[in-house]
Amino acid sequence: MDSWLIYGAYGFTGRLVAEEAAKRGLKPILAGRDPKKLRPLAERLGLPFRVAALDDASALDAALEDIQAVLNTAGPFVQTADPLIKTCLKKRVHYLDITGEIPVFQKAFQLDGEARGRGVALIPGVGFDVVPTDCLAAHVHQRLPGASRLKLAVAGLLRPSRGTLKTMLGFLPQGGWVRKNGQLEAFPLGEGKEQIRFPLKTLDAYPIPWGDLETAWRTTGIPNITTYLALPGSLMGLGGPGIRLSQKAAKSSLLQRGMISALRLLPEGPNEKTMKKEHGYVYARVEQDDGQAIEAWLETPETYRFTALSCLASVDELFRLRPVGALTPALAFGEDFVLKVEGIKRYDTLP
Ligand SMILES: NC(=O)c1ccc[n+]([C@@H]2O[C@H](COP(=O)([O-])OP(=O)(O)OC[C@H]3O[C@@H](n4cnc5c(N)ncnc54)[C@H](OP(=O)(O)O)[C@@H]3O)[C@@H](O)[C@H]2O)c1
Repeated sequence: MDSWLIYGAYGFTGRLVAEEAAKRGLKPILAGRDPKKLRPLAERLGLPFRVAALDDASALDAALEDIQAVLNTAGPFVQTADPLIKTCLKKRVHYLDITGEIPVFQKAFQLDGEARGRGVALIPGVGFDVVPTDCLAAHVHQRLPGASRLKLAVAGLLRPSRGTLKTMLGFLPQGGWVRKNGQLEAFPLGEGKEQIRFPLKTLDAYPIPWGDLETAWRTTGIPNITTYLALPGSLMGLGGPGIRLSQKAAKSSLLQRGMISALRLLPEGPNEKTMKKEHGYVYARVEQDDGQAIEAWLETPETYRFTALSCLASVDELFRLRPVGALTPALAFGEDFVLKVEGIKRYDTLP
């Protein structure tokens, strides 16, 4: 039987994945660096566990012994992906993670040849960022293969977890990006507001450097890509000026450290009720040079709930399809993969 391991299992999102896996009778091995946090979780869920810090190569080797796949949920992934990917390649173990960080995708894709040579799959981004956006980008592109522009937008990130906010704060000083003529280009945060129609309402959205600037480029080859985040109504008062002010503050390493440390005052992530009740939304539009365009939308379970479900669906597909190489989710599992995640609706038109 294929065995797999969740690294970072006691973090907020890792725990959601581990709990959902246990509920389904699956037996992943739980892993992380802190035995005091790992053991109680493993005991509560009745799952085996292995302790390994990422800077301890021999402990990592031992943790990956007799494992066929690792799902990394420990972020920021700029700090965790490298040692795990290195060990996975060495031990011929498949690697998945839930990053949305551009440099992590870039590094993984550079290892495509090595991954193929070792017969393993490296598939970063199997969470809300980027499974639904990547699959929807592939879906609209397949309906308009001559498209030269792609617009992707997400809504519904109502209560980001502490881990997500920490990761975002780390990248905030670098500002925004868009992809133009195949290259990443700086784009000022808080500028370029657009009104985007989602299934329930039209929302104001701002360009943000979402991981799809790398993954959708790899999946579709479309050379001009902008990725937007729609802010909920209550945050719109802050809008562009609020985003610019946060970026300015995060540029000071002292203030950035202060903001990261203040995150412990916030809830760890969305609560059960929010995760049951809320939804995530994704919009994709491709356009040709002659103005012809195609749009599509997805409604998903709440974004963290989606991530847990999507991780489990990815592990299933990995063992069923056995892809190799450094791949985006849509390249690894197909554009319709997102429809295999429970509770997804895809719309090609809106009433
Ligand atoms: N793509 C998506 O849609 C998506 C969805 C959800 C989350 N995420 C990302 O996933 C990451 C985790 O989010 P979260 O909400 O679960 O955060 P969290 O509750 O803060 O958990 C972070 C986990 O990572 C571990 N970790 C961090 N740095 C580590 C290191 N250097 N070595 C070993 N373990 C390390 C932490 O262990 P310690 O407690 O020992 O530090 C903890 O287990 C974030 O980067 C977030 O942005 C992405």
